[in-house]
Amino acid sequence: MDDLLPPAEPFRAKVVEPIRRLTRSQRLRALDGAHYNLFLLKSDDVYIDLLTDSGTSAMSDRQWGALMVGDEAYAGSRSFDRLRQAVEDVLGFPHVIPTHQGRGAEHVLFSTLVQPGQYVLGNVHFDTTRAHIEHRGAAAEDLAVEAIYDPHDASPFKGNLDVERADAFIRDVGPKAVALILVTVTCNTGGGQPVSVANLAAVRALADRWNIPFFLDACRCAENAYLVRQRDPGYAGKTVAAIVREMCSLADGCTFSAKKDGLANIGGFVALRDPALYQRAAPWAVLFEGFLTYGGLAGRDLEAVAVGLLEVLDHDYLAWRVGQVQRLWTGLRDAGVPLVAPAGGHAVFLDARRFLRHVPQDAFPAQALACALYADGGVRGVEVGGVMAGRDPRTGQERRPRLELVRLAVPRRVYSDAHMTVVIETARRTLARRAEIGGMRFVYEPSVLRHFTAHFAPIPAAELAQA
Ligand SMILES: Cc1ncc(COP(=O)(O)O)c(C=O)c1O
Repeated sequence: MDDLLPPAEPFRAKVVEPIRRLTRSQRLRALDGAHYNLFLLKSDDVYIDLLTDSGTSAMSDRQWGALMVGDEAYAGSRSFDRLRQAVEDVLGFPHVIPTHQGRGAEHVLFSTLVQPGQYVLGNVHFDTTRAHIEHRGAAAEDLAVEAIYDPHDASPFKGNLDVERADAFIRDVGPKAVALILVTVTCNTGGGQPVSVANLAAVRALADRWNIPFFLDACRCAENAYLVRQRDPGYAGKTVAAIVREMCSLADGCTFSAKKDGLANIGGFVALRDPALYQRAAPWAVLFEGFLTYGGLAGRDLEAVAVGLLEVLDHDYLAWRVGQVQRLWTGLRDAGVPLVAPAGGHAVFLDARRFLRHVPQDAFPAQALACALYADGGVRGVEVGGVMAGRDPRTGQERRPRLELVRLAVPRRVYSDAHMTVVIETARRTLARRAEIGGMRFVYEPSVLRHFTAHFAPIPAAELAQA
């Protein structure tokens, strides 16, 4: 009987943070002041902030309590022991190097494993991951299954790596040229789509065949496991904890941003199975992040991550969390908003190409759409398209990604479904006035990770029509 009740938050609020909605003219002024880059807005000027699910979680009372028992010793902190144990219990990797966040873990792992001229194969690499690979003088190859590039294709595991293409790629360049395979679960840049356990097993076999290390970017592993349980009948009877362990058992280690499924506001780690690899990675960690028992974090942060890693496996929490994203997706679809199907684990992705058919790719339709959603309802999303893809560092040419998306990432345990209704209503209004929305052009373009700090100017719709 309980299952028939409508879903509600499996928690109640103990502390609240007021938010306010500016008027439309105030939002237009704020947008202009931020140079049409939503990263440059003040968070006080945002009503519903779906820029990212990273570091934006509401921590639990147990996490806040754990902060008080943080051991701030430089070396040998007992908070590190608690984190190490939690990682081993949840993911099964015994060797843990804490880092200040996910990209710190990428920096340490890639400094250990990646040499200039090599390749790192993945499903769709995240932007900081790609940038760190390129920073090592290597190339990041996206080899996800073709379905991920079709927003209409509602296949259950669009995050899967195309193992045949990866095999052909390795044969082509030779296994020594491939530093590692890194599969991101769920595949954030590809629409938050999950990776099946069967696919991870196939990647393991591929890695063994060529003797190439295989890692996970595991920052959303609990959400991936929950979606495996939902979408693969073979896993319907398993716990999320068991599925996470099985996923990790197939890899040699992982990078992890604890700002996602660690339910913490900061933190990350590299986790490894092989003690020899741990020894090789350790000096890089000390150089970039700090001593091995704190890794750029306060002891209290280590405690919060250790508790968060255990909490995130809770079935009621995941059912509500992933369910909220799915309810947002359904509401937007019913409002006629063009979307990537199916819903991702942490986010809904709007298909800007179909939303703004009159805006050509070189006028950055997804950037224009993200700005329009802010103007219409104070909702902040993020462009995942040509702006984020940047330029090829070898040729300087604009990359032209196959998808132009706006990601609405839902922070964990933060917003209610009433907030999601406002988001749906905002998108409906933006859709109704889409003909008047123009494009964007750069007025300042930084050379690395340009989307974070670039400045833009709008191109009026009338000007696009003339071009
Ligand atoms: C899949 C993925 N990998 C890595 C990162 C980088 O993590 P961080 O922001 O903690 O550096 C992110 C952040 O959003 C991510 O989504």
